[in-house]
Amino acid sequence: MVSQNSEYSIQYSAWGGPENLETGPLHPPGKLRRGHIRVRVRAISVNPVDWKILAGEQNAGVHLMHLLSSRRGPLFPRVFGSDFAGEVTESRSHRFTPGERVAGMLSPLSGGSGSTEICVRASHCISLPDHWSWDQGASLPAAGISALQACKPFGRGSDSGRSGGPGSAGVQRSPGRVLLIGAAGGVGSIALQILARRGWEVHATGRAGQAELLKDLGALRVVPRDTWPDYALKEGPWQGIIDAPGALIRGKGEKSPAKLLDPRHPGACYYPVYIPNDFIGSQLLRIMKWRLFGRGKRSAMMLAYPSARRIKELQEHISRGIIKPVVDSSWSLKESSPASPVSHAMNGGVSGKVIIRLDG
Ligand SMILES: NC(=O)c1ccc[n+]([C@@H]2O[C@H](COP(=O)([O-])OP(=O)(O)OC[C@H]3O[C@@H](n4cnc5c(N)ncnc54)[C@H](OP(=O)(O)O)[C@@H]3O)[C@@H](O)[C@H]2O)c1
Repeated sequence: MVSQNSEYSIQYSAWGGPENLETGPLHPPGKLRRGHIRVRVRAISVNPVDWKILAGEQNAGVHLMHLLSSRRGPLFPRVFGSDFAGEVTESRSHRFTPGERVAGMLSPLSGGSGSTEICVRASHCISLPDHWSWDQGASLPAAGISALQACKPFGRGSDSGRSGGPGSAGVQRSPGRVLLIGAAGGVGSIALQILARRGWEVHATGRAGQAELLKDLGALRVVPRDTWPDYALKEGPWQGIIDAPGALIRGKGEKSPAKLLDPRHPGACYYPVYIPNDFIGSQLLRIMKWRLFGRGKRSAMMLAYPSARRIKELQEHISRGIIKPVVDSSWSLKESSPASPVSHAMNGGVSGKVIIRLDG
């Protein structure tokens, strides 16, 4: 817990669970480089990748990034987090001036958004609408970028205006029925809004208590979280499946993605957002998927990264009101330790994002 106005970082000194998190002295963000901005961080969100890195599950990537870092110091203590929202205090970029409200994402492998002060590449940040809170801003970068990537194979023309249906002008592939597994989570809750806007008929999985939210976000049907495998088989085949938690590739005895996709639909596509923890595992998965999917069926693996192009796309979707942030809960470090919100996020049943406020 933070007891007084101060500058600090949420940090950890060993791989493990949320109990390893503590607030400590600010990790100095260093000199402001060209094209970067200095940000007073007000809120961060908790992403699965953050607690996977904390657990040491992404060690190969973390060590590689550490080796490549130009400002290499000791590996520990490390700063928790990747998403953030806050105000610009200094700028060496034409994109933002001091006082502007921004949100963005640091590379999860380098990490470090959980500090009251950070320096970040301006091209990795979006400008926050005036009516958005810090919590709402911090909820969106990683989930929004990932959702946009996950929705890439699922037509994009009809989001240029009112909710479009099949056949809307500019749709690259005519929308059909899509099964969205994990729709109430960080990525799912944004992907649902994008798909619905593009005219896809979304069948979204979630818990009973999340049904109203999912319908509000655009789901045509809400499928109970624990019985969706039977529903998927009974109601299939599907023109598309987005699998946020990777349940179909991880589950034992569950249905195969290939059997659930519509063989007559040339663009039928299975898209897992989850990637295995290690690089070798992901390569094996890729080979496996080549074997799983025959001609005419598609599958892809994605790696979300805040490139300038993706940030621009996210900004456009926000400006046009296509996506709205979904915040599960907001935790102040004046009232709780950093472990509490992270445990809450890890326990599941969360709708949207869990936020940690860096009050000071
Ligand atoms: N490839 C990439 O670049 C990339 C980018 C972002 C995220 N990811 C990964 O993608 C995954 C999802 O991310 P996220 O931010 O959406 O996570 P999240 O916020 O934790 O959401 C996951 C959702 O999936 C649901 N779920 C879990 N197991 C399920 C099952 N067997 N059947 C049905 N629903 C299930 C969860 O429901 P409950 O809470 O009820 O369990 C939750 O609603 C994570 O593993 C994350 O690390 C990858």
